[in-house]
Amino acid sequence: MISKNKETFTITAALPYANGPIHIGHLSGVYIPADIYARYKRLTNNDVAFICGSDEHGVAISLASKKASVSPKELIDKYDKIIKSSFQEFGILFDNYSRTSKKIHHETSLKLFEDLKEKNLFSLIKSEQFFDVEENQFLADRYIVGTCPCGKFDEAYGDQCEKCGATLSPDELIEPRSAISNSTPILKQTKHYFIKLNEFEEFIRNWITVENKDKWKTNVVGQVKSWLDNGLKPRAVTRDLDWGIPVKVDNEDGKVLYVWFEAPIGYISSTIEWAKKNNKDWEKYWKNPDTNLIHFIGKDNIVFHCIIFPIMLKMFGNFILPKNVPANEFLNLEGNKISTSRNWAVWLHEYLIDFPDMQDVLRYVLISTCPETKDNDFTWKDFQARNNSELVAIYGNFANRVLSLIKKYYDGKIPKVKSRNRVDDLVLEDVKVLKEEIESYLDSFKFREATKNLMNIARIGNKYLAETEPWKIKESDPLRVEQILHTSFIIISYLAIVSEPFLPFTSVKLKNMIGLNDYSWDDLDKIFGTINYNFTIVDIEILFKRIEDSEIEYQIDKLKKSAS
Ligand code: 2FM
Repeated sequence: MISKNKETFTITAALPYANGPIHIGHLSGVYIPADIYARYKRLTNNDVAFICGSDEHGVAISLASKKASVSPKELIDKYDKIIKSSFQEFGILFDNYSRTSKKIHHETSLKLFEDLKEKNLFSLIKSEQFFDVEENQFLADRYIVGTCPCGKFDEAYGDQCEKCGATLSPDELIEPRSAISNSTPILKQTKHYFIKLNEFEEFIRNWITVENKDKWKTNVVGQVKSWLDNGLKPRAVTRDLDWGIPVKVDNEDGKVLYVWFEAPIGYISSTIEWAKKNNKDWEKYWKNPDTNLIHFIGKDNIVFHCIIFPIMLKMFGNFILPKNVPANEFLNLEGNKISTSRNWAVWLHEYLIDFPDMQDVLRYVLISTCPETKDNDFTWKDFQARNNSELVAIYGNFANRVLSLIKKYYDGKIPKVKSRNRVDDLVLEDVKVLKEEIESYLDSFKFREATKNLMNIARIGNKYLAETEPWKIKESDPLRVEQILHTSFIIISYLAIVSEPFLPFTSVKLKNMIGLNDYSWDDLDKIFGTINYNFTIVDIEILFKRIEDSEIEYQIDKLKKSAS
């Protein structure tokens, strides 16, 4: 086998706004795919920086803090803690999780902003913007709401329509009103720095819709194309707000950096923070042309990661551009859009109260139904079915049967064999092919297909056991039984190692049970020569337990009752 060279990966996952807890839509669209990818790249011996952090500025935070009658600082401290612990509980293994309210982020953002200003890459523009007279403040981004030009949504924000996905500017809204006082705003003059996106239109068009057309997902290329077709316009990178990273505009105070200018810089400042803690060179992860920069995001963030941030990176100079931005579509819940305000969601911290220690079940279901190419639906019935008929009946059943037979027949020692039968070789070849296909699916961001293959390893194992029926020939053909259980042990080893990115908690349990704790992905290629025959299988833990109808009925009921 040709061994692959170790590569460097900077993997980022969208910085979640610290204005609420995390729900299944976030996990399925961004964080589980990103974590699977990062774990897989680490396991295959690459140099990985998996970067994230809380997004703590912008109107989304100010509005939520006003609504909760607390200061923005109190709000972000509360949610940063909850979000971080949800990620930890679900095994989302970031190398660094930072916060955009940290000093290192303020300094990094301001430095990059000042650099661009010095290089004369901004225009200083006087314009009229919406102003709330009752509240005596300008209405940037989400502070202004109105009807989207698509005509389908009258609660669109000044920067985005959550219904049609369009990115807007406040003057495009029909019948605009203040999100704070609900009053009709007036227009008032103000000054801001604008980034000249229009000057980079051809560069983006070439880079994404020509060079990367066949490498990137069609939903991503499609969205970029339609943006470009409408023409790129200069976009303000400062705001009249009192919450954010303070900056002077033409010597005037009372301004902050636009959250979508500084939040993506959060990936860089989080990497710098990590590099400092670990004595590494952060520039290797952002400036080396051989480094693979991959952004995991939801579809509502495409324009920022495929147009605005790449233009900023190009303007900074010497920074690499993303190799891929595998954005996902949205996950719905029981047929309806997940909504924080309507409480139509499955919150991670609540899930764990009802299903303790069942993180991998949710990880499995969410990646199996990941909205990779179109919006998808999570239902509690499907959750139960995938648990009971796949994780319990196929994966758990295979592991349990093999380990119990080895324990019963050989006191837990893996049987040594001098030869294998052709059937054994064929089944092992199939398993090896499944593993190789998983690699190529993961390399091309096809997480659902990769997960199907993982389950197929256990499926093949079950079929092999059902066809060879070692329990029927234990007395008559003991040597054949040794071959069968030896082969089954190798299949379990594949399952344990290959599961790590997808089902990290189960993988650890299984590896502990079979003595493979120090094994890595590529070690599977030499499994035949490295089986530890001195290891004894002692405790056999049940990996997955059935979920009863009553538990599912309870969840559906709870969802309906708590929604408004
Ligand atoms: O949409 C969001 O939740 C944003 N907080 C994502 C920011 S990603 C990045 F650019 F920081």
